[in-house]
Amino acid sequence: MDHGIGREIKVIADLETLSQRVAGEVARLIEEGLRERGRVALALAGGHTPRRLYQILAETYRKIPWERIHLFWSDERCVPSDHRESNFAMAKETLLSKIQIPPENVHRIPAELEPPERAARAYEQTLRDFFDCEDRTFDLILLGVGPDGHTASLFPCTAALREETRWVRAVTAPPSYAIRQRITLTLPVLNKACSAFFLIHGAEKREIAQAILSDPQAAAKRYPAAIVRPQEHLIWFLDEAADGEER
Ligand code: 6PG
Repeated sequence: MDHGIGREIKVIADLETLSQRVAGEVARLIEEGLRERGRVALALAGGHTPRRLYQILAETYRKIPWERIHLFWSDERCVPSDHRESNFAMAKETLLSKIQIPPENVHRIPAELEPPERAARAYEQTLRDFFDCEDRTFDLILLGVGPDGHTASLFPCTAALREETRWVRAVTAPPSYAIRQRITLTLPVLNKACSAFFLIHGAEKREIAQAILSDPQAAAKRYPAAIVRPQEHLIWFLDEAADGEER
C-alpha cells in the first residue's frame, strides 16, 4: 500500500515472517546498489527487533558479497562494544561473527569515547570521509521505533531533532531508559539516505504505529520516527501484533 509521500506499509504475520521478508528486500536492495554503484552503505538498527533479520542475512543470504558492503549504525549506547546493551555487540553476535566482512568495512560508532561529544564528532568525520557527496548517504537505513515514537536515539522534544547541520549528536535518553547516554545519527543524514525500512513488532508498538501511520502530518509534530523521509523509498514493515485498525 502506498500512502502517498512514497511510503509503503507492509503488514506481515509475525516477527519470523517479517524478518524473512525484510531480509529478501535488503538482499534485493544490496544487489541493486552494487549494480549501480559498486558498493553499498547499510546502516543497522539497534534494539531487539532486528536480531532475527541479522541472523537470516548471515545464515540464508550467504551470497551477499560483504566485501563490497559497508556497515554503519544509526545509533549506539555509550557502553563498551562488548556490553550486553551495545547495538554493535548485538550485530556482532547475530551477523558480524557469521560473515566474511573486511574489518575496514565495519564502521562502528566509538561510543566508549569520553566525553560522548568526542564520539559523535569522530563518527561524523567517519561518515563525511566515506560519503564523498553531501546529497546522498546510505543506500539503506534500518530503523526501529520505540513506544514513545523515538527512532535511532532521536527522542521526542529533544534538541537533536532540530539539528540541521550535524550528522551525529551525543544525546541523553529520557530517565526511563536504562542507558541514557547515546550517540545518534540526526535527521539531516537519515533523510539523505536512499531508502529506509522501519521494522515494527509486537502489541506494545500498536499504539505508536497507529498514531504515526494514520496521520503522518500530525505525527511529524510529535514523533521522531514520523519525520524520517529518505530520498526514494520508505517502507514500514509491521507484524500483525503491531498493526492497529484500518488506516
Ligand atoms: C536503540 C535503537 C532504537 C530501537 C527502538 C526499538 O538503540 O534502542 O536504535 O531506536 O530501534 O527503541 O527497539 P526494539 O526493537 O528493541 O523494540
